[in-house]
Parts: sequence; structure tokens; C-alpha cells
Amino acid sequence: MIISSFPVSRLAKQFVSLSGLSLLVFLTITTAKAQEQQIHPQSTQYEWPADPAVKEKLEHWRDQKFGMIIHWGLYAVPGMIESWALCSEDWITRDSTSNYDDFKKWYWGLNKDFNPVKFNPDQWAQAAKDAGMRYLVFTTKHHDGFCMFDTKETDFKITNGPFASNPKANVAKYVFDAFRRQGFMIGAYFSKPDWHCPYYWWPMYATPDRNNNYDIRKHPWRWNKFKEYTYNQISELMHDYGSMDILWLDGGWVRPLETVTEEVKNWGANIPAWSQDINIPSIAKMAREAQPGLLIVDRTVHGPYENYQTPEQRVPDKQLDHPWESCITLGDSWGYVPSDKLKTPAKVIHQLIEVVAKGGSLLLGVGPKPDGTIDSPVVQRLAEIGSWLKANGAAIYNTRPIQGYQSGNVYFTQSNKGKEVYALALLAENSPVPATVEWSINTPPKGAKMKLLSTGANVKYVVKGEKVIVTIPPAVQKLKGYPALAFEFIVAAD
Ligand code: GLC
Repeated sequence: MIISSFPVSRLAKQFVSLSGLSLLVFLTITTAKAQEQQIHPQSTQYEWPADPAVKEKLEHWRDQKFGMIIHWGLYAVPGMIESWALCSEDWITRDSTSNYDDFKKWYWGLNKDFNPVKFNPDQWAQAAKDAGMRYLVFTTKHHDGFCMFDTKETDFKITNGPFASNPKANVAKYVFDAFRRQGFMIGAYFSKPDWHCPYYWWPMYATPDRNNNYDIRKHPWRWNKFKEYTYNQISELMHDYGSMDILWLDGGWVRPLETVTEEVKNWGANIPAWSQDINIPSIAKMAREAQPGLLIVDRTVHGPYENYQTPEQRVPDKQLDHPWESCITLGDSWGYVPSDKLKTPAKVIHQLIEVVAKGGSLLLGVGPKPDGTIDSPVVQRLAEIGSWLKANGAAIYNTRPIQGYQSGNVYFTQSNKGKEVYALALLAENSPVPATVEWSINTPPKGAKMKLLSTGANVKYVVKGEKVIVTIPPAVQKLKGYPALAFEFIVAAD
């Protein structure tokens, strides 16, 4: 089943100086149809892992609930859409003065300008920690093929260019280390498609869409080179960058032909007649030998290597009983785009609550600036989210979904031991805290005390038939703009 996509609007404007001539590249993605084309939807098909180490890590991951996905690459330099402008699909439109070939040359040349002299992974990790996040996914390589790690497979990487002599030139290593120091689970985002690799986009041919641009059936040797290239890069990441928890593989169109189901055909993207099979089982074997228990998220390729599902820019309609994560941007874009419109902390907190009540985790997207720092309005919003989580985190972390998960604007979770139930009432933005909060499922057992997490004090409530009516203390009613109230009651003995 495909649940319709959350509409996203993106806008990226950039003046590009190209051999003396000034060219306005104006990229807009306007229609909902176009937006859906690069978005991974979600299916209900899921296969639980069999390996005990993977199962254990998966349960641990399910306790974390809130993570940060960082998109950082060449696209940060002009502040435009991540990689996709390179792709000649018609949902990307350019100013009529632009020329595709010139554009590609200009984009590839951004590696000469990417010099993030203020690169500060500790600032990133601190901001994520202050937000109450507990796991990280970092773009080691996006579709444009530019590597944010010191791969031996290509020179198209951050360690070859103006930043090469910086002590932190091997960016991915320092990002992972900084987040590890803050106790985060560590995930490597890796794009299976690579538009810079000559074995994926053969320079001899045009590049009409996101797919590899030659018939693999006619040129199997070339695809084998691509498979080797991919295997070797993932091997580097799995062996040389410390302990890894998640391998997050993006670009779901790179998949064996036999997995191209109706669901995949409905994406609306062109599907070639050949198989873009990169032999994930052999990659997974190598990766798990190096990183026992590693979670592998081969997005949208249902089966043993999609250890959790990843709906994008949307929250599923209903609770799901298998592991999943919504990846949603804090602004409108994955990467850094100047004056991107950021969501309010209340909006993110509401999404987090809904996601967790429906059994998922929220992976919030943030794009650092080209200088290597995270913009202060972003840091500030993250801190506000974190201050809510500091008081109310018991209702979020280490919880599992409960069958009756919603009653009006109140969502429910339960502790992973099943002892406590939490009711989370979403409060409308910028409105006063109400005098009472009500719901009509999950009635507390007779005599149970009810605690308001933000104050730690018990609150009064009555049960009238199906209805639970909680009285909010006057001091709490005075709070302005409080995003959500969380209540705890015990349903089972120790
Ligand atoms: C998407 C896009 C990509 C983005 C990502 C994040 O499907 O291809 O640009 O990095 O997924 O979820």
C-alpha cells in the first residue's frame, strides 16, 4: 500500500558565474507530482531480521526515537537542492538561459570552492544533543557522488581540494567521532546511485535521467566495475570509521529488476529494462562482519536488508507494527538553503509525538552551512525542542506503541516494559494551556495516580464513563506557547 506523499515545496535560486558569464539558475519544483518523484514512499511489507545481534540493535534503535539526518555536500556551497539539479528529469526546471552541459560542469567544479574553514562537528553534535536527539545519519556521499570521506576510489572528495590540508579534512570521520562522544547511535547515509562515477553515468553517453545511462545487459563489465566501486567504498566506511550502527542506503531505484514491483512502478520515475543490482547481500555480509549487528536500511527494497522503513517528508496515516522512521526536514530542504523556512519547535514536537505514538522514530533533516557550522536559527529551534524533551522525554524515549494510540488531540505511548502509559496532549500553537484535558480511551486503573511530566507533580482527574478529564494546575495554565502536555500513569506492577 502506498500512502500519498506529504507535499513539499522547494525553491533554490543561484547566480552562477560561468567562464565570465553570469547565469541565473532558477530551480523550482512546483507540482506535487514532481515533488513525489524523488520521495520514497512506504509499504507495509516488512521482514523482521533473524540475526540476534541485528534484532538487539533494532530494539535499541527503537528506544532512541529522535535522530538528526545531516545533508552536507557540494550543494551547500551555492545553497541549492541536494544533487538533483544534475539530473535531467523534467521536474527540475532551469532558467531558459541555462544549458545542461554547462550547468553540470559548473556543479562538478564546486569541489574547488568547497572550503568549510569553520567546520565544527562538535557544534553539530552539541546542537543535536541539546535537541534531545539520540542518533545520527550523515551523508557520506549523496547522488552527486562527492565523497565527504577520504575514499581511495575517487579524487572527487573533500580530502582533495581546498580543504585537504585541514586537520579535519576527512569530514565523515570527525562527524562520526563528535556524535559518538555525545553517545549517539551512528548512521552512514550512502547513495547507491553515483552521478559522478564513470561506471554509473558513462561520460560517453547523455544522462537523461537518474538511472545509469547504458544498458547493463550489453555492458556487464562496466556495471561490474560500478559494483566493485560501491562495495569498496562501503567497505572503507565500515572498516575505517569506527563503530557503526546504521547503513542508510538511499536511491531506491538502484535495485534488482525482480524487486521492481507495482509499488516501485507507481513512483512515476523511469525504470530501465535492465537490473541495477549491486549485490546487497555481499555488501551486507562484508559490512556485518566488520560491524556486527549493523542495521541496514536499503530504502524501499523490502526484505532482509530493509531493517526499518523510511517514509519521507510525511507521517503514515496509521500506527504500524513494524520498525519505521519518518525523515522530515526542519526547513523545506535537506541541505542548506539560505532563508529556508524553518518549522516551529511546536510543529516538530507535534510530529515527533504523532510519529512515536504510531510506532516510529523521527529523523529530522538539517543542512550545515558551507562554512561548516549550523546556522543559529536552526540551533535555537533545536534547543527549544530539547527543552521540551528534557521535561517530557519519559513519554517518548524507550516507549513502544500502545493499541489505542489516539483520542482527539491526545496521543498515547507506553514504556517498553509496559508499566507506564503516557498521554500526550498536543496544544494548538500560540494558544493558552486549557483548564482541562480530556480523552476517552486508556482509562487509568482504579486509584492510579496521574503525573504531569513537566512539573513532576500529580494532577487531579476524574473518570466519567469512557471519559478521562484531567484538571490542569493554574500555574501550568499560565504558560504561553507550551507545545504539549504529557501525563503518566502506572498500569502494571513492577
Ligand atoms: C530522497 C532524495 C534525496 C534525499 C533523501 C532524504 O529520496 O533522493 O535527495 O537525500 O531521500 O531522505
